[in-house]
Amino acid sequence: MAVISFANPKGGSGKTTLALVLALELSRNGGKVAVIDADPNAVIVGWSRNRSASGTDVPFLTLPRPKETELISTIGELAKQYDFILIDLEGTASRLLSRAFARSHLVLIPLNPSPIDARLAADAVRLVYEESEALERQIPYRIVYSRYPATVKTKSFKRIAEEIRKEELPTLRGGLVERAAFRDIFEFAATLDELSEETTSGLFRARDNAHELAQEIINALKEEHKI
Ligand SMILES: Nc1ncnc2c1ncn2[C@@H]1O[C@H](COP(=O)(O)OP(=O)(O)O)[C@@H](O)[C@H]1O
Ligand SMILES: [Mg+2]
Repeated sequence: MAVISFANPKGGSGKTTLALVLALELSRNGGKVAVIDADPNAVIVGWSRNRSASGTDVPFLTLPRPKETELISTIGELAKQYDFILIDLEGTASRLLSRAFARSHLVLIPLNPSPIDARLAADAVRLVYEESEALERQIPYRIVYSRYPATVKTKSFKRIAEEIRKEELPTLRGGLVERAAFRDIFEFAATLDELSEETTSGLFRARDNAHELAQEIINALKEEHKI
């Protein structure tokens, strides 16, 4: 069983998208997945409700934002039945975030490579270190490039990537590329497999991207916890 949190105080950095893509990949591979949707916009809960309303199966459990006092017991209950518990967080410091981090085997920090976003992602990294210090255990985390262009890497992207390399911040090699498919799964309340090439361009590349990224995240969990 693994708990994975998604955090970055920057709205729009790609937390919810990464959480949904990963939940889909893990359940597609036979994992029992629960998503705790602590995003105030409740986008993943909405995705799941839209599917239920149209009689389409929902491949994983979704739970609305729990009270902060209930988060730990909720995780404890889910841990008895589920292989993966994903927590879509806001990313600003809060007790809910501290508790989610305390139970996380891996914190993923999506980073949209622009200078402002890099600063806010650094805040998320600081929060991981603060919690690690309080708990006296290293909370493993990875930065994940998100919404980055499929083709040309801008100069600012390269500068940010260079900064991150210099700081030796743990970063996944692949990230989530900017692709229509990663928006369309929300618009159509669909999985990547259900989308069609006619309505979504670059679909095959998006699927490959999702498969590879999920594999890299599993590898990170194995590295950290020998799961
Ligand atoms: N890889 C991606 N490709 C295309 N659009 C994306 C991608 N990641 C995020 N988006 C879009 O960017 C916006 C913000 O993403 P979201 O996942 O909601 O961020 P957050 O949860 O961090 O606020 C949404 O409109 C989403 O559809
Ligand atoms: Mg969100």
